Amino acid sequence: MVKKSQEYIVKIDTLNHQAQGIARIDGFVVFVDNVLIDEVVKIKIEEVKKEYAKAKLVEILEKSPYRKDPECPYYDFCGGCHLMHAKYQHQLKLKKLLVEDAFRRIGKLSPKINDVIGMENPFRYRNKTALPVGGDYVKPQIGFYRKMTHDIVPIDYCLIQHEFCDDVIKGMKELIKKHKIEVYDERKHQGVLRHIVVRNSFAFDEMMLILVCTKVPENLEVIKKDILDKFPKIKSFFVNLNPKRTNVILGEEDILIWGSSTIKDKIGNLTFEISPKSFFQVNSLQTEVLYSQVVKYLKDIDAEIVFDVYSGIGTISMFVAPFCKKVYAIEIVEDAVEDAKKSSKNNNISNIEFICGSAEIEIPRLMKSGIIPQAVILDPPRRGCEKELLESLIEHKIPNIIYVSCNPSTLARDSNILCSNGYEILEVQPVDMFPQTFHVECVALFKKREE
Ligand SMILES: C[S@@+](CC[C@H](N)C(=O)[O-])C[C@H]1O[C@@H](n2cnc3c(N)ncnc32)[C@H](O)[C@@H]1O
Repeated sequence: MVKKSQEYIVKIDTLNHQAQGIARIDGFVVFVDNVLIDEVVKIKIEEVKKEYAKAKLVEILEKSPYRKDPECPYYDFCGGCHLMHAKYQHQLKLKKLLVEDAFRRIGKLSPKINDVIGMENPFRYRNKTALPVGGDYVKPQIGFYRKMTHDIVPIDYCLIQHEFCDDVIKGMKELIKKHKIEVYDERKHQGVLRHIVVRNSFAFDEMMLILVCTKVPENLEVIKKDILDKFPKIKSFFVNLNPKRTNVILGEEDILIWGSSTIKDKIGNLTFEISPKSFFQVNSLQTEVLYSQVVKYLKDIDAEIVFDVYSGIGTISMFVAPFCKKVYAIEIVEDAVEDAKKSSKNNNISNIEFICGSAEIEIPRLMKSGIIPQAVILDPPRRGCEKELLESLIEHKIPNIIYVSCNPSTLARDSNILCSNGYEILEVQPVDMFPQTFHVECVALFKKREE
């Protein structure tokens, strides 16, 4: 019987989908963070549940040859990077195993899965961050949440973010003190400044700053002047109002305080406009690799009509537009659709129809009206596709589906639905969009089987 606070020596069998080590004590499953496969470690049990226990790593007795010292001083506390203790090439191998495991366990499938395409420099790649603010205006804290909590780990820099993020952390701490900006206290639901959201463009060296507040801060005009002085790369400054007691970061209302309502970034040769609420892949450099994979599959298909479902600011649509007659892009966020329309005009692309609505309603509607694509590209959020959407693709026997996914578990679940209804997976190409973390993006190519 596994007991809380007891220490054990175990060997790590494998990692789960969140890169936690799995060990067994008399057959009982124990999860341990910060370990690697085949390591022998001393652990201390922290929590015992009915089906499993969670333990803390106490000492590594037999070290994996793939282990390295994490480069980040906050690694042990911050919940952001889960795999920084593994050499990068090994991280890629582990991610492939996680994808294979999801397909086997959840999808009951074993498709051909290629090696993960990694980055040359797996640091400083993120173009967006949301930093919670804590403490008070005398001693403000800006950082990330401690693993599985809402306690803030104050940081001075983050090795996976663009350097602008470090400047904002330093500069905003000074401004909170100087202007006595009231910091939000989550427990009491009191105060003003909750989060600082930074978006930065790798291609144009510009930045969007969003202060997420319960109300417009006092002295905003003076604060604005200091912000513009401190951050010369700023192109766009918003206050977002979020007065609710909620874990959701952004509230409904965005107030443009200064500058442009969007920033621009580039993927390949295309330029995109990005609003505060619009989705944009967080790794601008690696996105080109991801989209090239989609283009590669689509070129082989020779499709006239293509649906880009969950299209965000129309990035994939504009990448595939030269290879077909018409693209229908479907996205639920209005601002993202507006960004997409502007960008397609700027990029001189005229064969895309942008539709604002929910995919599960708009796709069946389009197909009922007689518009039947030869290829559908799906790129849903982490929860995967709505069942009604997959059912309508199955019903209309769409011959080719290219599924882009940031969550192997829901990709595997949806693959099972497709493969149980006449489809086969030709291949899965994982791409590492999120180095140092357990997250991995995949592009899967499905074909309708001959009847
Ligand atoms: C993972 S993002 C992909 C965006 C885009 N394809 C890209 O590569 O940047 C998923 C997008 O789906 C949108 N979305 C979420 N639920 C939706 C729904 N039910 N119908 C249509 N779009 C939805 C989100 O707003 C987001 O822009």
